[in-house]
Amino acid sequence: MATILVTGATGTVGTELISALANRGLTVRAGVHSLIKGDRLRQMHPELQLVEIEYSKPQTLHVALTGVDRLCLITPFSEDQVEIGKRVIDAAKLAGVQHIVRLSAAGADAEPGIQLGRWHREVERHLEQSGIPYTILRPGSFMQNFVNYNAESICHEGKLYMPLGNGKVSYIDARDIALTAAHILSAEGSTHHGQAYELTGPQALGLDEVAAAISQATGQPVTYVDVPEETARQAMGQAPAWMSEAMLELYGLSKAGYAAGVTNTVEAITGCPPHTIEQFAHHNCHRFKASS
Ligand SMILES: NC(=O)c1ccc[n+]([C@@H]2O[C@H](COP(=O)([O-])OP(=O)(O)OC[C@H]3O[C@@H](n4cnc5c(N)ncnc54)[C@H](OP(=O)(O)O)[C@@H]3O)[C@@H](O)[C@H]2O)c1
Repeated sequence: MATILVTGATGTVGTELISALANRGLTVRAGVHSLIKGDRLRQMHPELQLVEIEYSKPQTLHVALTGVDRLCLITPFSEDQVEIGKRVIDAAKLAGVQHIVRLSAAGADAEPGIQLGRWHREVERHLEQSGIPYTILRPGSFMQNFVNYNAESICHEGKLYMPLGNGKVSYIDARDIALTAAHILSAEGSTHHGQAYELTGPQALGLDEVAAAISQATGQPVTYVDVPEETARQAMGQAPAWMSEAMLELYGLSKAGYAAGVTNTVEAITGCPPHTIEQFAHHNCHRFKASS
């Protein structure tokens, strides 16, 4: 039975991937940073192996990767993301891992692209040159960002603040990224080796359409407010400059319509059409309502 390690297992995609890998006849090992979050994951999946990973401590990578056949490499949005990605790939090579599925980002191969994409491309290149069979997943913006970053203003003000103008984006539900990764990780043979897949949701949406879907699901009014770039910069005041500048660049690209492309890759690989924004909003409607 193949052993699969998922890094970032308690994050947005990782949590869904652990669920998607259940009952596939594989040994699943969750690489977790926080053992408390890891324990919560194991309560849902008692058969799960848990292993602590701290990217800055190579010994934890050595332990986590021992006996691993396939790896799903998910790294956080951090200043040292490139270094971390390369370090894990090198450790996987030493451990004899036979296939790496890498969570990258849409447009990573664009020239000259944006900074977020260039960071991902550097890790992709390292993987391509490692000699380890690999598959690269390049999803667009996650629908779950609305839960993680916009739920507070949606709950308390009925407002979705973003600097995207009328730009449309083909938002993808993280469950579809996870399901695609699970199919690839559990596939026998080399069909997906050497491939890079752009993953999107079923359609490109403006934020007024996203607000309408959330409003419909919650039964409460939600309005999109297009904020100027400078206001968005100030709102990210606590964030380090590398992060806010990279995000503003992504927003600019989305506003200009460059994140609106739609692919059929999720359905082609999984056999299931990707979730719509309405399905996402219904599934998460409790997250968009203020608790009374
Ligand atoms: N959000 C988007 O719209 C989007 C779109 C395309 C691509 N992406 C890419 O997706 C990736 C992020 O995926 P995600 O959103 O699923 O992740 P996430 O929710 O941000 O979770 C990150 C995971 O990494 C763990 N982690 C953080 N620091 C660590 C460390 N020092 N050592 C070990 N583990 C550590 C976290 O654990 P703790 O919580 O316990 O620290 C968490 O499980 C990024 O590469 C991003 O560029 C995101």
